[in-house]
Amino acid sequence: METRDCPIGVFDSGVGGIGTLAALIRELPRERFIYYGDMLHAPYGTRTTGEVRELVSRVVDELEKDGIKALVIACNTATGAAAAMLRAEKEYPVIGMEPALKPAEEAWKGGKILVMATPLTLKQDKFLSLMERFGAHAVPLPCPGLMELVEREDGEGARKYLEELFSRWPAEQVDAVVLGCTHYVFLRPMIRDMLPERILITDGNAGTARQLRRVLAGRGILRTDGEGSTELRTSGDERKLRPVMERLLRRAAEIAANPEGQRAGTGT
Ligand code: DGL
Repeated sequence: METRDCPIGVFDSGVGGIGTLAALIRELPRERFIYYGDMLHAPYGTRTTGEVRELVSRVVDELEKDGIKALVIACNTATGAAAAMLRAEKEYPVIGMEPALKPAEEAWKGGKILVMATPLTLKQDKFLSLMERFGAHAVPLPCPGLMELVEREDGEGARKYLEELFSRWPAEQVDAVVLGCTHYVFLRPMIRDMLPERILITDGNAGTARQLRRVLAGRGILRTDGEGSTELRTSGDERKLRPVMERLLRRAAEIAANPEGQRAGTGT
């Protein structure tokens, strides 16, 4: 098979990366995607860097069995822990994610920029160097436990968590909220409803999709004809999780199409 027709591996610790996947499909509808959610080992964000590296290596071994032509780490936590390691090891391109702090800083109007992410993302060197470049007005907000609420589709739990989180920051002091974990993008419609409209919300999904396009085109392995396809896999209970993943992919497609839409997706 020609390299351009080979699949692209996409993974996350759970369902969060499905939002990224929806953005990838939107940008590159002719590509063949294999998504792997490592639910059996989630969450990553409260583990150590060494543990996450090991888990990521196992997931990547699994995806390589399908002869992937590129890898998208649809997880900020796993990118910080393992992207450099993978890039040193692999011939194929490895695309990672980081909190979309730059566009938030560019839109700065004198207030705070709240960066929501997992505890591990916020501790990593990759994030500290991002802070040095664009973090003059940023306040890192570790959100342990929030990804689990998204995994469980616990909308009420997520609402309470967010209300508590934002109550510490009067809205008039805030310019932007950065969704620095792919799971939180599923909460975007809820967060949009909770915050005044002038507060910017950023996430890395669309930027990652554009970056994947650039990299594939640069290597001459962009698929320009043929039907696209998507396969959803998990290390968790397939039977239970497949319908959840399929449902979330549909919801993510709505959010990707209309990120500012107040009710583009309801629930969590
Ligand atoms: N979705 C992941 C991220 O973007 C991590 C969630 C987790 O496993 O803690 O950071």
